Parts: sequence; C-alpha cells; structure tokens
Amino acid sequence: MKKRILSLMMAVAFATTLLFAGCGSNEDTKDGETPLESKEESGSDETLVMATNATFPPYEYVEGNDYLGIDVEIAGEIADMLDMELEIQDVEFDSIIAGVQTGKYDMGMAGMTVTDERKQSVNFTDTYASGIQSVIVAEGSGIASVDDISSETRVGVQQGTTGDIYASDDYGDEAITRFKTGADAVQALLTNKVDCVIIDNEPAKAFVSANEGLTILDTSYAEEDYAICVAKDNEELLNKINDALSELKSSGKIDEIVSKYISAE
Ligand code: ARG
Repeated sequence: MKKRILSLMMAVAFATTLLFAGCGSNEDTKDGETPLESKEESGSDETLVMATNATFPPYEYVEGNDYLGIDVEIAGEIADMLDMELEIQDVEFDSIIAGVQTGKYDMGMAGMTVTDERKQSVNFTDTYASGIQSVIVAEGSGIASVDDISSETRVGVQQGTTGDIYASDDYGDEAITRFKTGADAVQALLTNKVDCVIIDNEPAKAFVSANEGLTILDTSYAEEDYAICVAKDNEELLNKINDALSELKSSGKIDEIVSKYISAE
C-alpha cells in the first residue's frame, strides 16, 4: 500500500531527525523544521500534507514505523476521497497553525480544538469529534476535584494546547510547567515534579493505563470540539474536506474508525 510506505518513510526520517536533534539544542526541532519531505520536494500536486503531533494517542501516535490513530485514519479516508496522497508531517504541536497559515502544510489535524483565537489565524472545518480537558493526578493525591487546583498547584501541560491556555488563564503562568509532549508532562507527574497534568481525556486515559499509580479526576476541566484547520485563503480545500467529512459521518465511517480506538463505556 503506497500510503503506508510513505508514512513508513516519514517515520524513519523522523526517527533519524530525533537522533540528530538529540545532539543539538532544543532549538533544532522547535520550529518544526525537520528534514522530512516537504511539500515542495514531493513534486506532486496530488499530495495532501497533514501536519500533526503524533504524541497524542488514540488520535495520532507512532507505533513501530507507522503513524496510527483516529486522525491518521480519517485523514487517509479524506485523502482517498480527494484522490490525493496523504503525507504526514510530525511536528511540534505549537508550530502547526503557523505552518498551515504560511502554506507549508495543507491542513493541521491533531485532535485540535476549535477556539476563537485560533479562528483568527486559520479556518476550521466542521467538527468531527469532541474532547474534554481532564486532570490526571497521582493516586491518593490531595487533589480530589478540579476545585482543589489553585495558583499553588504545580500544573503540567503540553505547550500551546488548550490545557496550557486555559490553565495559564485560571491559575497564572507561575503555576504552569509546559512540556513538549503530554507524555513528558505525565513523566513529570510520575516523578513528582508536577502535581497534576491537564490534557485531553482520551490521551489521559491512554497515559493512565500505560502507567501505574495515576488516576483521572471525575470532574472535567473543559469541554471542546475538534476540527481540521486549513489556511484562510484555501476555501476550496476547506469545502472539499467538509464534503468528505459529511460523507464519512453519514456513512458511519467515522464512528467505525473511532470505535476501533475508543471502546464504548
Ligand atoms: N485539544 C488540544 C488543543 O487543541 C490538545 C491537542 C494536542 N494534540 C496533539 N496532537 N498533541 O490544544
């Protein structure tokens, strides 16, 4: 399968990037300038370049040499319907919107929440999923509900996410520690460097089930909608993706993909 091979190549390229990035400063990878195949280099108009941040199970993550997840599969369906080849660019979450704005990527799909502020920079498609910001704590911690979080709490978040934005607003910058990935934030929680992690509910569940001694608070922190972002001047692509999404919704394909990754409770 051509698509699979392409994503395999991307993953290998990304792993190589990480190897080299490890030798330099963080700045090397910060702006998403990874030496992955760029839109220009791919030499095909038929490529749909999706920027994501594949550290976000079950929406996008890397397993072995493959990109997997709900977003990856929905994007694959959209690309098929548009008769395009999907190319995945795995970049820092907070560089996705800028890259879409400048046309470096055709679309951003990363469990991305629709917010008014982001809408000023990019257009969002119709929503295809909903999310909840949840709070992960260590079992038996003093934080029993969202009301126990204050400016005194050490809150871990993934940089640039809505968890980061809302928590910075609510508890002040001082309380927030920003990490490159949600997994890094969870690691800090496990080693008692933060008191809680605010992150989307499905990744929260994945991280909690992969690590002993963590639990998710019953009370949720915020509720939101996920959509794909596209450059403001690319209404044509926006409309095409919306048409594809509506067909994928009515055919039951989206539900089918979601239920592969998320079991009904
Ligand atoms: N829903 C949150 C937001 O839009 C977090 C998304 C993080 N996604 C990722 N692939 N790391 O800000």
